[in-house]
Amino acid sequence: MKARRIVVLTGAGVSQESGLDTFRDADGIWSRYRVEDVATPEAFARNPRQVHDFYNLRRRNLLAGHVKPNAAHAALAELERRWPDEFLLVTQNIDDLHERAGSRKLVHMHGEMRKVRCAACGAVTANDADLSVDSVCDACTSSGTLRPHVVWFGEMPLEMEHIGGALARCNLFISVGTSGNVYPAAGFVAEANAAGARTVELNLEPSLSHSHFAEGRYGKATAIVPDFVAALLAKP
Ligand code: APR
Ligand code: ZN
Repeated sequence: MKARRIVVLTGAGVSQESGLDTFRDADGIWSRYRVEDVATPEAFARNPRQVHDFYNLRRRNLLAGHVKPNAAHAALAELERRWPDEFLLVTQNIDDLHERAGSRKLVHMHGEMRKVRCAACGAVTANDADLSVDSVCDACTSSGTLRPHVVWFGEMPLEMEHIGGALARCNLFISVGTSGNVYPAAGFVAEANAAGARTVELNLEPSLSHSHFAEGRYGKATAIVPDFVAALLAKP
C-alpha cells in the first residue's frame, strides 16, 4: 500500500458547534473586538489589562461545563488512532478541544489559551486562572511578566519547520473549518499541492482558498468530517 501521510489543518469552524465563537462569521469575535486592541504585541504593551480581559473571558468560556469536543474533533482523533502511516493535526485554534477528544499528534501553531508564557524567564506553564498585570510567574516568581501563550498578529506562528516538513511529505491534506484569511496557514494548501498531495476542503462554505483544493465538501463539521473520515478509513 502506498504510504499515505496525512496533514490536517483546522480552524475555528471545527469548534463552532462546541459553542466557541469563530472570528469572521457574522457574529464572530472580530465583529465585537478590534484585532489592534486585543491581539497584537503593541496592544499588550499599550493596554495589558484590556488584552488580559479578552483572553480571560475566552478562557472562562472554554472552561465552562457546556463546552465539549464535538463529533468532528472525535472523528479526527479516531483517524489519528487508526491511521497506519504518518499523521499530523495542525490547529490554528487555541482551545484544547482536540486534546480532550483524544488527539495527540497535534501542533497548536497559534499557541494555547490554557497556557501562559513569562517574559522574564521564558517558562510556558499551564494556567486556567484569570491573568492580570499582577500575576506571578510560578517558575521565577516575577510579577507582571505573564502573557497568554498565544501567537498575536505580527508574531511568528509556532513549529513552522515541523509543519513545513510534514506538508512537503504529505499525500493527503485536509483543511477543516478555516476561512483561509490568515497566513501562513492559508498557504498550506499550496505547499501540499506542490508536494503532489490530494487536497480536500471540509467547511461550512467555500473558503478564500477553495480554488486551490482538488475537492470540497460543504456543510457543518459535525456532519461532513465524520463522513469523510469513515470513507477514508473504509479504504485507506
Ligand atoms: N462547520 C464547518 N465550518 C464552519 C462552521 C461549522 N459549524 N462554522 C463556521 N465554519 C467556517 C466558516 O465558514 C469559516 O470559513 O469556519 C471558518 C471560520 O473562519 P474564521 O472565523 O476566519 O476562523 P479561522 O479561519 O480559524 O481564523 C484563522 O485568524 O484571527 C485569527 O488567530 C485567529 O486562528 C485564527 C485565524
Ligand atoms: Zn518567569
